[in-house]
Amino acid sequence: MSHHVLESNFSHEFLEELFSTTDLFLKSKKYTNFNGQLIASIFYEPSTRTRSSFEIAAKRIGCNFVHLNIDAYTSSSKGESDQDTLLNLAAMKPDLMILRHSNFKCLSSVLEQINIPVISAGDGKKEHPTQALLDAYTIRHFKTQLKGLKVLMIGDIKNSRVANSNRVLLTKLGAEVSICCPDIFKPNQPEWSDIPHYSHLDEKIKKFDVIMKLRLQKERLGEERDSFSDLRAFVLNPQHFEWSKKDAIFLHPGPKIDGEDFLPEVLNDSRIKILKQVEFGVYLRSALMSMMLEKSK
Ligand code: NCD
Repeated sequence: MSHHVLESNFSHEFLEELFSTTDLFLKSKKYTNFNGQLIASIFYEPSTRTRSSFEIAAKRIGCNFVHLNIDAYTSSSKGESDQDTLLNLAAMKPDLMILRHSNFKCLSSVLEQINIPVISAGDGKKEHPTQALLDAYTIRHFKTQLKGLKVLMIGDIKNSRVANSNRVLLTKLGAEVSICCPDIFKPNQPEWSDIPHYSHLDEKIKKFDVIMKLRLQKERLGEERDSFSDLRAFVLNPQHFEWSKKDAIFLHPGPKIDGEDFLPEVLNDSRIKILKQVEFGVYLRSALMSMMLEKSK
C-alpha cells in the first residue's frame, strides 16, 4: 500500500485484505488494539457522516482522536495558508491524519513532505476513496461479488466526487457502471467517455442490480447552475421502485435531501440500504486505519 490513501485505484490484493479485515471486525466486533496511537483529522469542508465515522472507527481500534474543523476560530481566519496549517498539524506527530479539502492538488508538495500517512476524506469534486470503498463493501455484502453487476448512478454526476471514485473502484471490481442524468450534469472528462449515459430515468431502471442516487452538489455548480430544475425528473418515486428488480439495492452516500433524492412514499422500501452503508463504513474505516497503522509501525 502506498503511504497515503488519496485515490480509489486500489490493488486487488489491498482490497481483499481490507474487505476481509472489515468482515472480521463486523462479525466478531473484536478489533486490533492501537491503544495510545493518535489520529488527527482536519476538515476544510463540511461533514457529518464521514467525520463522525472516522472518529468512531478510530476509537473502536483504541486510538485517541483529535479533530480540527477549519472555521472562524482557526488560524485560516487570521490568514494562514492551508499548506502551513497542515504542516503544523503534521509537526505535532499524530500517527495518522484524515484530511478533507476542496483541492488536494494545491497541497501536493506538503503531502509529499510529511511522512505521516494521510487518508483522504474527500478531495473537491475529484475523489472520496473511503466512500467508494464502503459502497463497494456494502454491494459485496448484499450481492456477494461485484463482477458482472449492473450499477446505475443517478443525479448530479458531474460534480460528485463519490460518483468519480465509484466509477474507478466499481469498474475495477468488474461491475458495469452506467449513469443517468440530464446532459448538462454528465461529466465531460475523457475517463467518462466509455460509461453509458441515459438522459431519462424510466423503465430501463429494471435492468440494474444497484441504484445509487447522488444529491445535487449545490455548493459546486458551474454552468449547470441554471439547470438544476432538470434534476426534478430524476427523483426516485414509487413507479421507479415498482419497475426495479425485487432484489435490487438502492444506495446513497448522504446527505440525502428530502423530496430531491427519493420521494417520501418510497423511503420505507426494504431495498434501500443507506443506513447499512453508514454502519459498514465504520467497520471499514477501522479496518483501513488498522492496516495503515500496522504498516507504518
Ligand atoms: C459526500 C461528500 O461529502 O462527498 N458525503 C459523504 O461524505 N458521505 C456526498 C455529498 O456531500 O453529497
